[in-house]
Amino acid sequence: MNAKEKLIVAMPKGRIFEEAADLLRKAGVPLPPEFDDSRKLIVPVPEANLDFILAKPTDVPTYVEYGVADIGVVGKDVLLEENRDVYELLDLQISCCRISVAGLPGWKPSGSSAPRVATKYPHVASKYFREQGQQVEVIKLNGSIELAPLIGLADRIVDIVSTGRTLKENGLVELEEIVPITTRLIANRVSYRMKSEAVDYIYEKFASIVEER
Ligand code: PRP
Repeated sequence: MNAKEKLIVAMPKGRIFEEAADLLRKAGVPLPPEFDDSRKLIVPVPEANLDFILAKPTDVPTYVEYGVADIGVVGKDVLLEENRDVYELLDLQISCCRISVAGLPGWKPSGSSAPRVATKYPHVASKYFREQGQQVEVIKLNGSIELAPLIGLADRIVDIVSTGRTLKENGLVELEEIVPITTRLIANRVSYRMKSEAVDYIYEKFASIVEER
């Protein structure tokens, strides 16, 4: 892969990094072996005319919206929560999971106070319960959400479920699926127009790999 014009690509560190890097390699991007373990935050790949910035997943759409990255790889969960002004170009169909409501089995609402819901996704959770006509108090946490019902911080959680192992090992059950999640390719609106040849080139490469899978 060699884009005509240099593009800056925002990549998320963490849960979806490995599958995204694998997809890039399949698309012909010669990512250096140290890409996966390095602490470097900017990794140029001159052979592909791409510079990668390695960002916190929730920040990927921010870098792309502000145009410091032309394109980005990011989970739909982050797009739904952050609601940034970016183009969603392609469903990469990797890191498939879902956002669900979960909790301790047998929990029943008590008293008149609204149930507490702990989550990394306060917007997604608030919208879901509003649409369900349920009044809840949403508590924002930044990780290890499954702890909240175990130690009495919340009655329910809204979080990513992938294999279901974290829920199971903590004695929690999945109650309702809110939305299925996959990884997406996104683009800055200006880059999409001004660097259309390079963006199209990357899009086509990814699209053909996705179709093959
Ligand atoms: C995610 C999510 C769940 C877990 C689900 O956490 O928040 O805790 O993965 O995966 P599973 O169904 O396969 O067990 P992540 O590893 O991103 O870390 P976090 O707890 O810091 O959010």
